[in-house]
Amino acid sequence: MKTYQWGILSTANIGRKAMIPALLESSMAEVLAVASRDEEKAKNFADELDIPRAYGDYQALLADPAIDAVYIPLPNHLHREWAVRAAEAGKHVLCEKPLALDPSECRQMIAAAEANKVQLTEAFMYRYHPRILASREMIHSGAIGKVRTIESAFTFRLSDLNNIRYQPEMGGGALMDVGCYCINVSRLLAGREPVTAQARAYWAPTGVDAQLAGMLDFGDGLLAHFDCGLNQARRERCLVAGTEGYLTLPKTFIPGPDEAVIYEEKGREISEQHTFADVNHYRLLAEDFMHTIDGSVPLFPIEDAVDNMRVIVALLASARDDGRVVSLSRDSV
Ligand SMILES: NC(=O)c1ccc[n+]([C@@H]2O[C@H](COP(=O)([O-])OP(=O)(O)OC[C@H]3O[C@@H](n4cnc5c(N)ncnc54)[C@H](OP(=O)(O)O)[C@@H]3O)[C@@H](O)[C@H]2O)c1
Repeated sequence: MKTYQWGILSTANIGRKAMIPALLESSMAEVLAVASRDEEKAKNFADELDIPRAYGDYQALLADPAIDAVYIPLPNHLHREWAVRAAEAGKHVLCEKPLALDPSECRQMIAAAEANKVQLTEAFMYRYHPRILASREMIHSGAIGKVRTIESAFTFRLSDLNNIRYQPEMGGGALMDVGCYCINVSRLLAGREPVTAQARAYWAPTGVDAQLAGMLDFGDGLLAHFDCGLNQARRERCLVAGTEGYLTLPKTFIPGPDEAVIYEEKGREISEQHTFADVNHYRLLAEDFMHTIDGSVPLFPIEDAVDNMRVIVALLASARDDGRVVSLSRDSV
């Protein structure tokens, strides 16, 4: 099996905490280099994580011919620029969520990947977890009848207004940061695209949405509603209700060890618990990406990122316009 040499663009927290450990856990990957805007920072990060090469700017890493793939955990407003530059340098790109700031940026990134024959994947790690794939299978095989409602939430409390998540010019806000998961899981489990979007929000002093509640109409009797926030206690959940029963997925997006469970309820009598072994979904994401470089079909096509972004943009437009109903027909967003 080929081993892929990885470069990490920035010393971001999520790289340190999750993606680099996941790559180190995989027999398919080696983390060869890290780049930072600050060379000293890159060197310290490389020493800390035992990464052989450190660069004082991102472009220098892209110029390293030994690098096969890059991981981009930059602030959201830099995803497009660096994914395009990486593709032009011939590197495969695993880019953090949300893929960019709007559908047009996503399409530019996809076009650059296609033109340079490299793979591009959005790092929504949660959907590679066997529990999510199993719940999709259960729903699609009719385990809870016809799906009527999808409820979801992703919130946590962030008080530092200097964090990238509070900066409007960086693509901050609760919806971009965590609401994007709720949209993604709703679309994934619905198995189709919403036709309209509506939202209400409360705004942080910096101007981004601190808290947002949204509703997506998938047509044919299926409504999804969710809320996301940067201003309240941590909460992650998803519930999918059908005509015959419902599934609950606690800690939906980042389950801890022994927490990946599906509760299946049918009426008052039948209640089943499906438990999934602890697994690193960041590693599963990275390995699916590397198999795709090898020619496998990706578990989730990159066009999904454009569709997710269309919904994000529509919900933000609605929230900024007093909850107006925004159409999601393909030519409108
Ligand atoms: N999939 C997940 O589980 C997950 C979880 C958390 C975050 N994320 C995503 O990952 C990305 C990074 O999030 P994070 O929380 O890890 O961010 P972070 O710790 O703030 O790191 C962002 C990095 O970007 C670099 N950077 C370049 N220009 C910058 C600027 N103008 N301001 C600030 N930093 C700048 C900095 O690295 P240098 O100084 O080294 O250049 C910084 O360390 C976001 O897209 C976020 O949505 C994903």
